[in-house]
Amino acid sequence: MLVSAETATNALDGGRGAPGPMVPAPFQLLSKRQDTADTWTLELAPRAGAPLMFAPGQFTMLSAFGTGEVPISISGGGGGEAGEDGPLVHTVRAVGLATEAICRASPGEVLSVRGPFGRPWPVAEIEGADVLVIAGGIGLAPLRPAILALLARRERYGRLLLLYGGRSPDQLLYTPELEQWEVRGLDVAVSVDSAGPEWLGHVGVVPRLVARASFDPASAVALVCGPEVMMRFTVAALAQRGVGQERVHASMERNMQCGIGHCGHCQLGPTLVCRDGPVYRWSELAPWLAIREL
Ligand SMILES: Cc1cc2nc3c(=O)[nH]c(=O)nc-3n(C[C@H](O)[C@H](O)[C@H](O)COP(=O)(O)OP(=O)(O)OC[C@H]3O[C@@H](n4cnc5c(N)ncnc54)[C@H](O)[C@@H]3O)c2cc1C
Ligand code: FES
Repeated sequence: MLVSAETATNALDGGRGAPGPMVPAPFQLLSKRQDTADTWTLELAPRAGAPLMFAPGQFTMLSAFGTGEVPISISGGGGGEAGEDGPLVHTVRAVGLATEAICRASPGEVLSVRGPFGRPWPVAEIEGADVLVIAGGIGLAPLRPAILALLARRERYGRLLLLYGGRSPDQLLYTPELEQWEVRGLDVAVSVDSAGPEWLGHVGVVPRLVARASFDPASAVALVCGPEVMMRFTVAALAQRGVGQERVHASMERNMQCGIGHCGHCQLGPTLVCRDGPVYRWSELAPWLAIREL
């Protein structure tokens, strides 16, 4: 179920009456779909209590018991504003011990979930604007609930554009959904870094899509998620089109342990990504990202 940021932040136990944000709740894996060679989308339901309430852009700490917890963005679920009804959705790329164990889990198995945590995309605050949703690779996962929320209230926004890039056509996520989103009023432009002759779409990095996109620079707001280098070049391309850093919102990744601002693992400048992010205005981030290795 989608809720306002304030409600979601206050309801750290997801409205399930759990003892606190450090106590994991058991969620049953209902289904699992392989999206790419190393990425799976999982549907999960709580073993007891109400569905998890969240705002687009928030994440949970997810674990296959005994292999460590990792932050994973919520990529769907619930009803209400997003117009989506159903279980909690996570899209996970298997890159190491914890994510490989999560992706190996079979339907029926139980995973542990804490959250939701973090500052969400400012979906309500940007009503009236042209909105550019800009994603690289698995960065589309945290942006999917924002896209659904924008489309559920399509009439409240100007132009809606998705600029999405992947390394190759077989690395793209949610491809059957891209057409549905287009029908509902999202202009979708997809690009890949490299492809064979069968690919008829754009070839090139995502920031190049910014240069040719059609939007009103005076009102446009961008929601950006992808590898940090892609985000830096995207911000530069947006600046060239007249979209300043204060109108760019980006989701950041840092190593995490507690997810609730206690351990300090996710420090970025004077902030903690789990508590003050993961979504920041780029104008907040710029001074810290200018420092190497921060
Ligand atoms: C707020 C937030 C949201 C996130 N959302 C998602 C999500 O929706 N889906 C998702 O799959 N991941 C997401 N991540 C990244 C995910 O948390 C990491 O991939 C995970 O912590 C890796 O843990 P591991 O134990 O599997 O791998 P580790 O053992 O920690 O790492 C194994 C190897 O992979 C490398 N590695 C670690 N993380 C990444 C990465 N992100 N990309 C590429 N290589 C990496 C490491 O450098 C190491 O070499 C998110 C991270 C944050 C902070
Ligand atoms: S993960 Fe512990 S402070 Fe952010």
